[in-house]
Amino acid sequence: TDLDSFITGLPKAELHLHIEGSLEPELMFELARRNGIEIPYASVEEVRAAYAFSNLQDFLDIYYAGANVLRTRRDFHDLAAAYFARAAADGVVHAEIMFDPQTHTDRGIAFSEVVEGLLSAMAEAEAKHGITSKLILSFLRHLSEEAAFEVLEMAEPWLDRIEAVGLDSSEVGHPPVKFARVFEEARARGLKLTAHAGEEGPPEYVYQALDLLHVDRIDHGNRSLEDPVLTDRLADMGMTLTVCPLSNLKLCVVDDLGNHPIDRMLALGLKATVNSDDPAYFGGYIADNFRAVAEARGLDQEEIVTLARNSFTGSFLPSDAIAAHL
Ligand code: HPA
Ligand code: ZN
Repeated sequence: TDLDSFITGLPKAELHLHIEGSLEPELMFELARRNGIEIPYASVEEVRAAYAFSNLQDFLDIYYAGANVLRTRRDFHDLAAAYFARAAADGVVHAEIMFDPQTHTDRGIAFSEVVEGLLSAMAEAEAKHGITSKLILSFLRHLSEEAAFEVLEMAEPWLDRIEAVGLDSSEVGHPPVKFARVFEEARARGLKLTAHAGEEGPPEYVYQALDLLHVDRIDHGNRSLEDPVLTDRLADMGMTLTVCPLSNLKLCVVDDLGNHPIDRMLALGLKATVNSDDPAYFGGYIADNFRAVAEARGLDQEEIVTLARNSFTGSFLPSDAIAAHL
């Protein structure tokens, strides 16, 4: 359709993507076979049928189990290569991808295997598809701050190739304040900062991400809208929110895409972007997310263009590269 080709043809940056969340069932089976690992599913259809979630934790349990098939540098390369090919087809020209080192190092996989596999796929994607990319090392917030410090230490030899740190996993009960010192350390090392906040957690967690973590971006941020003072502050400071419509639907952050706040966010002056979060689990890549929310909320072309522009101005690219994309 016209809407499809308009969305796909619009250059976009993806700012909220967990690379482990791009593991499609077909590749999960291939890696299980390659690595001699048993998986608790008989078919690709059975895997897809298991992807029915009623909240974030439901999803996380299945997402961490799925990551078990990822073992070698080649696996991480193949995972990211598949994502970049899919993203390129959707008109993504720049991607800032999160990875969860603790999901792998806690299973005995070396940090070097994970990061070198991802970096080689990133270099290949630039050559093959012209997609530029950056890595965001995300701390698992259900684990301790001490464990996060250990990851940062482990990442030391690669810090010149890691753009930012992030904070993900189970939000409620694990407020940003728990990670204030490790974020301060990351900032001191010149890393950019982002954190999931206000997905399931209250507006208070968004305040903490701003005031205690000093983040450069907020991942999700939906629940900020419950607090008009916070909403105004985010708008005034031009804080980028990396919103993920299909994720919001699948994790029951919204009950229906017809009630998704994406256009209300823009109308309130918030710098919202559209992203895919965990596309293999939530039923769509970035163009699917744009299309779903555009149809459900009746977005006009100007709103769609604003969302795409925001993805560049909210990226961690240097200002000359941002200007070249606008
Ligand atoms: N929220 C928190 N943690 C996550 C997510 C998410 O949407 N996706 C992958 N890890
Ligand atoms: Zn996320």
